[in-house]
Amino acid sequence: GATLKSLAESKGIYIGAAADNGEIADPTFARIIGQEFHSTTPGNSMKWDAIEPSPGVFNYKGGDEILNFAVSKGMTVRGHTLVWHSQLPSWVSEGTWTKETLTAAIENHVTNVVTHYKGKLLHWDVVNEIFNEDGTLRDSVFSRTFGNADFVPIAFRAARAADPDVKLYINDYNVEFIGPKSDAMYTYVKQWLAEGVPIDGIGAQAHLVVGLLGDTFHENLARFTSLGVETALTELDIRGNTPLSAADSQQQKDDYEYSMRACVETDGCVGVTIWGFTDRYSWVPTTFPGEGDALPWDKNFQRKPAHDGIVLALGGT
Ligand code: G3I
Repeated sequence: GATLKSLAESKGIYIGAAADNGEIADPTFARIIGQEFHSTTPGNSMKWDAIEPSPGVFNYKGGDEILNFAVSKGMTVRGHTLVWHSQLPSWVSEGTWTKETLTAAIENHVTNVVTHYKGKLLHWDVVNEIFNEDGTLRDSVFSRTFGNADFVPIAFRAARAADPDVKLYINDYNVEFIGPKSDAMYTYVKQWLAEGVPIDGIGAQAHLVVGLLGDTFHENLARFTSLGVETALTELDIRGNTPLSAADSQQQKDDYEYSMRACVETDGCVGVTIWGFTDRYSWVPTTFPGEGDALPWDKNFQRKPAHDGIVLALGGT
């Protein structure tokens, strides 16, 4: 059959899959991701704790390894992620900060990392997961120190200054459907754009649950792009109770098809990245015990009905 990437091209979008350093050492994983996907996102190796473990000490080994792998497969890379409350080194999360000193630390981190990868990445998730489910600002070292979301424009401006061409995204989960959290994303981005903050895109992670998708996926992505930014699904996976029943497998197929269609059928949705591609490697079972089987290939690298749902959305058979 046709590869996912050839089908995605026929619809004018890219399709990607996240990868970790250990996973690209698995020859089957490496072969399939290179054949089927246009792009990859490092699952962990470009996060703050990995890249700047001590103040001003930068370690690009893991990130470069993913980048070099991608280049060897003719794939592009989505950088992930510059400012996030999680996977911070303790000197950041437990540091004693003022607005001034934390601004300097953010600017130094963002400038150094974006400069290192200048011209080599297509997208950066500049800011990740700043909202609570009710649309308020999440508690973090950043929101506590600033007392508001002013660290966001600081990060975007530093990123733009370091690389004028890479697409700069704000990214979050549970912003796929209309609701308080996606309302907050929409409203904040609208305000920041009016202030000239260089935001190019809104990423909807799309960590979803079989049978529990809302019906406003298209409508919500369309309101994001109505702001004049692009959008993308950045971490799609659809988990269920393991092992998936036959009925849940069929539902998962429909849910993948619907999610992919939401991007394909929305002008300005540029692509979809799946958070891995095989159930052999997935963050879900460790975080949600009893849940998993969230990806289009099973643990033995066999295609699942979920894969066929993606194919259908991309116009294949
Ligand atoms: O590297 C250490 C290793 O040295 C140690 O032996 C091992 C034992 O636990 O842990 C390893 O670190 C793990 C790391 O993944 C690398 O494998 C961490 O424990 C584990 O917590 C971490 O999980 C990652 C998770 O983010 C942490 O926040 C997942 O792989 C990664 O897929 C996941 O990705 C996030 C996105 O960045 C943001 N959106 C949500 C998504 C899913 O949680």
